[in-house]
Amino acid sequence: MRERIDLREALNAISDVVQNRPRALREFDQIYMKSGDMVLQSEFVASWADKRRLAFIGDGDAISVCTAYLQKRGIIEYGPSRITVFDFDERIVQAVKRFADKERIEHLDAVLYNCLDEFPQPNRFDFFYTNPPWGASNNGESVNVFAQRGMEAIGYKGEGAIVIADDEELEWPKQVLGSAQSFASSSGFYVSRMMPRMHTYHLDDNPDLRSCNLIVSSLPGDSRSFVSEAITDRSRLENFYGKSQAPRVRYVRERKRLDYGKASEDEYRLELLEIAK
Ligand SMILES: C[S@@+](CC[C@H](N)C(=O)[O-])C[C@H]1O[C@@H](n2cnc3c(N)ncnc32)[C@H](O)[C@@H]1O
Repeated sequence: MRERIDLREALNAISDVVQNRPRALREFDQIYMKSGDMVLQSEFVASWADKRRLAFIGDGDAISVCTAYLQKRGIIEYGPSRITVFDFDERIVQAVKRFADKERIEHLDAVLYNCLDEFPQPNRFDFFYTNPPWGASNNGESVNVFAQRGMEAIGYKGEGAIVIADDEELEWPKQVLGSAQSFASSSGFYVSRMMPRMHTYHLDDNPDLRSCNLIVSSLPGDSRSFVSEAITDRSRLENFYGKSQAPRVRYVRERKRLDYGKASEDEYRLELLEIAK
């Protein structure tokens, strides 16, 4: 049951999470959602996946953390019973783990994982969530790769939220939406809900581009056996992160810093007062 939430408390909680988010690496399509949209999206995810085991396939935005934290702080009374983030960026994985540890959120965890590799925990979740590379240059194949891992996480039984571009003017988001829907259909899922143009991003070259929540649900009675395998078919990986940008990195590794969360010394220099010289 959804209820009214204290907006100030919710925004301040999201602000704690944003403060903890590593800086976005544009070359891997990390483009972060804006904070107001994160509040609404996290509340939606908490309600949609209430009492479910939820797998995030990639989560630079930190919707996973917001969802768990809003519940932990008592700002909302509902939410998933378990949340695990699978991401190839160790900075993101460690940021989730550090936050969960600091705030004592026992049901939140993260695993270093590249979605080109076989999925390490198939069949262990009820729902999945993914905000993948949006597939402007590969007709959505990158979306389908992330969605496939989500489907494996839930053993092709349950629901998934696929967060992808949605724009009235541009053609490619419509093509990608079509491709994602036919991939879902060929995988034994149907589109059970579509929430159009919900979220905005810190995206310099197209600040107005929005994304939707495409909710897919498994068809009743369609139980399938599967083996999760590495993706080696090069045609699925062309233009993965944009034109001529096939994946070449297994993991983004974190450089350990003791002053995590503070400005790095190479970001600024001090110009001293005369009296201090
Ligand atoms: C591709 S971005 C999409 C934009 C989204 N708003 C964000 O920044 O989180 C989503 C997440 O996928 C992760 N990611 C990118 N490539 C990946 C891969 N090959 N395997 C696993 N995660 C990946 C990124 O680190 C990021 O956290």
